[in-house]
Formats: sequence, C-alpha cells, structure tokens
Amino acid sequence: DVGMIEVHWDIDSTSSELARRIPVLDDLAFVMAETQSAGRGRRGRTWLSPPGMNLYLSVLKRFDAGFASLSGLSLAVGVMLIRALDDLGIRTAGLKWPNDVLAGNAKLAGILVELSGEYSGPCAAIIGVGLNIRLPDSLHERADQPITDLASLSGGQPPGRNRVAAAVVASLSEGLRHFERHGFASFAAEYGASDLLRGQSLRVIDPRGEYTATGEGVDERGALRVRRATGELVTVDSAEVSVRRS
Ligand code: ATP
Ligand code: BTN
Repeated sequence: DVGMIEVHWDIDSTSSELARRIPVLDDLAFVMAETQSAGRGRRGRTWLSPPGMNLYLSVLKRFDAGFASLSGLSLAVGVMLIRALDDLGIRTAGLKWPNDVLAGNAKLAGILVELSGEYSGPCAAIIGVGLNIRLPDSLHERADQPITDLASLSGGQPPGRNRVAAAVVASLSEGLRHFERHGFASFAAEYGASDLLRGQSLRVIDPRGEYTATGEGVDERGALRVRRATGELVTVDSAEVSVRRS
C-alpha cells in the first residue's frame, strides 16, 4: 500500500525530486538518498546531508480536502517520528514546535512540509525528514546549533539504517492515512506528551515583535499557545515565527 520507494545515491534534495514529479506519482511515493547536495530546511536554510549513515527521506501525500484541512500536519509528522523511534527502542527524543525532533537539547531530526495545489480542493504535501543516525564528527562544527544522532542516544550502537528507514516509512504511511481522515486532533494528546516547550521560558519572534513567554501547549489546529509576561495568552502560527528556549 506504499506507492513507491525509490533510493538514490546522490541527489540535490529528495523533496525537490518529488516536487518535479508530482503530476506522475502515485500517493505515498517515497524517495530516499544516501546524500544530498542541496538538502534544505525551512526558509532556505541548509540541511547538512553527508553520505554515510543518515536518513534523508521525503514522501508525497495527496489530500482531497486542500490546505485548509492540513493544519497541524508537521506536528503530526513529528508524532509519527516519535512513534518510529519508540519502535526502535529510542525513548529520549521530544518535539520542539513546530518541526524539530530534539534529544538532550540537540537537533536529532528535522521535518519540512511543502504544499502545492488548492486551498479547498485537491492538493499535495511533500514531507521531508532528515534523521541523523551517525554523523561524522566534523559536522558538529558546521551546524549553527547543537546536533545529535541515534548513535549518541544508543551508546554507539544505533539501529541499522534499513531498520530505521522501515520504521519511519511504516509510521508515516499509517500516520498520514490516519491524519487524512481524522486531522491533527487525533495526534494532539501524543504531541502533548512529547512537547518540549510546555512550561519552558521562550523567546518568541513574531509579527508582534520579540518577547519572552512561557509555552502553554498547542491548540486544536497545532498553533503554539504561549503566556506573555503581561499574563496575556497568545496563539502563534508557525509561518513567521522563531522560538528559542531562553
Ligand atoms: P526554527 O525553529 O526557526 O525552525 P531551526 O534552527 O530549527 O529554526 P530549520 O530551518 O527548521 O531551523 O532547520 C535548519 C537548521 O537545522 C539549520 O540551520 C541547522 O542549524 C540545522 N541542521 C542542519 N543540518 C542538520 C543536521 N543534519 N542535523 C541536525 N540539524 C541540522
Ligand atoms: C528543518 O528542520 O528545517 C527541516 C529539515 C528537513 C530535511 C529533510 S532531508 C530530506 C528532505 N530533503 C530536503 O532537502 N529536506 C528534507
């Protein structure tokens, strides 16, 4: 019931590859690569993608109900990754809204959701996942934030990449179908259980300006709720926001 799983040696970006082929691909088409020459994160940032032992994976999922039905999708994908890690025996990872998987305060995986199509008609999501299994030592200096890998979380003996890929593909196929029918609401409780920002002191940059606030979970659409120092409870959407623990 998975449309396709294609594995490349070297590619610019697994998400770009799916984007080029949207019209001709079946639902739930997966592309993976050994390395990416132009791996990307949000807002044009670079995803470091050395060859060796990491997972660079994207999946195309079509939705009939349009973007309007997809709020919370990147958070739900985070929950799907936490489930896959749990299946692999790794229980120390959590979610940093809106799209990061962290362990021990370092970035273990990133999620990039890109949409095309209609607001209330047929659309497609390309969901990219970068998950570090064993990073070369030199990569830590090249990242502009602390990063980590499954090897560090499992005493140097990470699960093999095929097992990791199988767990992620299974969780995404099942989870995305479930999301299509039930939306973010059915992931909200599990999101809450992995929410690393709840109760934390945060530095938020959004169209209101830059301010400190405390994480108060997410709403039913997956927007972040924070309490400002003034006591005001505000809701923050992912598009124009950066959140840092302060
Ligand atoms: P925001 O919270 O605003 O999304 P972010 O720092 O998580 O900020 P993203 O665009 O989501 O930014 O992710 C890109 C960032 O991820 C890069 O700027 C880099 O710091 C980090 N990064 C790049 N490659 C890797 C990697 N292989 N593993 C972990 N982190 C990486
Ligand atoms: C982020 O944290 O900003 C998201 C990073 C997403 C990286 C993955 S790696 C596979 C796919 N291809 C890309 O170019 N990006 C995503």
